[in-house]
Amino acid sequence: MKFFIDTANVEEIRRANEMGIIAGVTTNPSLIAKEGRDYAQTLREIASIVDGPISGEVKATTEKAEDMAREGEEIFALDPRHMVVKIPMTAEGLKAIRLLSAKGIPTNCTLIFSANQALLAARAGAAYVSPFLGRLDDIGQTGIELVQTIAQMFSNYPDISTQIIAASVRNPIHVTDCALAGADIATVPYKVLEQMIRHPLTQSGIEKFKADYCAVFGE
Ligand code: G3P
Repeated sequence: MKFFIDTANVEEIRRANEMGIIAGVTTNPSLIAKEGRDYAQTLREIASIVDGPISGEVKATTEKAEDMAREGEEIFALDPRHMVVKIPMTAEGLKAIRLLSAKGIPTNCTLIFSANQALLAARAGAAYVSPFLGRLDDIGQTGIELVQTIAQMFSNYPDISTQIIAASVRNPIHVTDCALAGADIATVPYKVLEQMIRHPLTQSGIEKFKADYCAVFGE
């Protein structure tokens, strides 16, 4: 399983990229709005930092397939080497995915909450599907089961090349579960990446090595 970072904060993206742990970035309208900067400029800057797929979502106000496809082309044009157009899972969204994939523009179908939605998005030509596990957990359904089911479903059909991006990842247990469930990618907020790095025994081990070394060899 690869890691993408789920943020529009360029400082977090830079830090994660410098550690060599991320292969791409996902954003959404809420994440970009939180940064309070220009939408297109933020995406362009992110694409200049990370050499991998960068998901930029069509604006939440766009609902018609043709409008989403037009906006998707603009997002793709920001950096055709990296940009992936994120499209919400609706009937119009599926049509937009088909229009964009016919032009060779990769798409990420977002807001996936059922296995059937994922299968439909794959058949429409989505390069990625994004099941949201944390938001399912929030309403009392076991989100990881959705990732497992999609992975099993896609593996039954070798002609499906759509990759699964496990999204709405909220904690390190989610990350391990995603890897066991067969997600191709987990898109993880910076805070969760930090939580994954840290372990109290690693920290106390470093302190002990330091104390033992300094006791004999000095500072
Ligand atoms: O990028 C979409 C997704 O990861 C959002 O996560 O925590 O807002 O449900 P969350």
